[in-house]
Amino acid sequence: MKFFLDTANVDEIKRIVKLGLVDGVTTNPSLIVKEGRDFKQVVQEICSFVNGPVSAEVIGTKAEDMLKEAEELASWAPNVVIKLPMTEDGLYATHALTQKGIKTNVTLVFSVAQGLMAAKAGATYISPFVGRLDDIAVDGMKLIRDLRTVIENYQLPTEIIVASIRNVGHVEQAAIAGGHIATIPGSLLPSLWKHPLTDIGIERFLSDWSKMGK
Ligand code: E4P
Repeated sequence: MKFFLDTANVDEIKRIVKLGLVDGVTTNPSLIVKEGRDFKQVVQEICSFVNGPVSAEVIGTKAEDMLKEAEELASWAPNVVIKLPMTEDGLYATHALTQKGIKTNVTLVFSVAQGLMAAKAGATYISPFVGRLDDIAVDGMKLIRDLRTVIENYQLPTEIIVASIRNVGHVEQAAIAGGHIATIPGSLLPSLWKHPLTDIGIERFLSDWSKMGK
């Protein structure tokens, strides 16, 4: 399973890149606004040290505007992936960009039908949001299992980015369900390598070791 970081915070990304755990980055308008920095500057900085796809999202809701924005975003760095909403206009833009060889990530996917539509339109990635489904008492992970089945059934070249991840369990279940990629908030990622028994174990070993030679 590939790990993307779901953040626009450069320091968070740099910390995890040093561990060899970052296969790509996803951003969205909310994450960009949180940083309080210029959109282009942030995306170009991330692209300069991340060896993998970096999703940057369009703001327009009409296909024509999405395509204009996409051309601009794609010119910022070779590893920019255009993130588009799961709407009719988003599908139109996805198809048009795919024909031009520009990579796309269709976001805000909440059903198998939406995922299938985006994949058929040529999306490089689809982003089903598990956390937001769980929030409304719908099993988000079932959507990941079902989308994986559909992609396998028809050998579609689209990869599933499991998005809206809220906890370690989501990452573990996404891997078991066959999500190709998990996009994980930078603040959550350290919880993946931590365990209280590991900390207790280290303390005990060090305490026993300190008794040596007494
Ligand atoms: C990633 O592509 C999504 O924008 C992100 O995972 C959404 O997460 P949220 O539901 O926690 O805002």
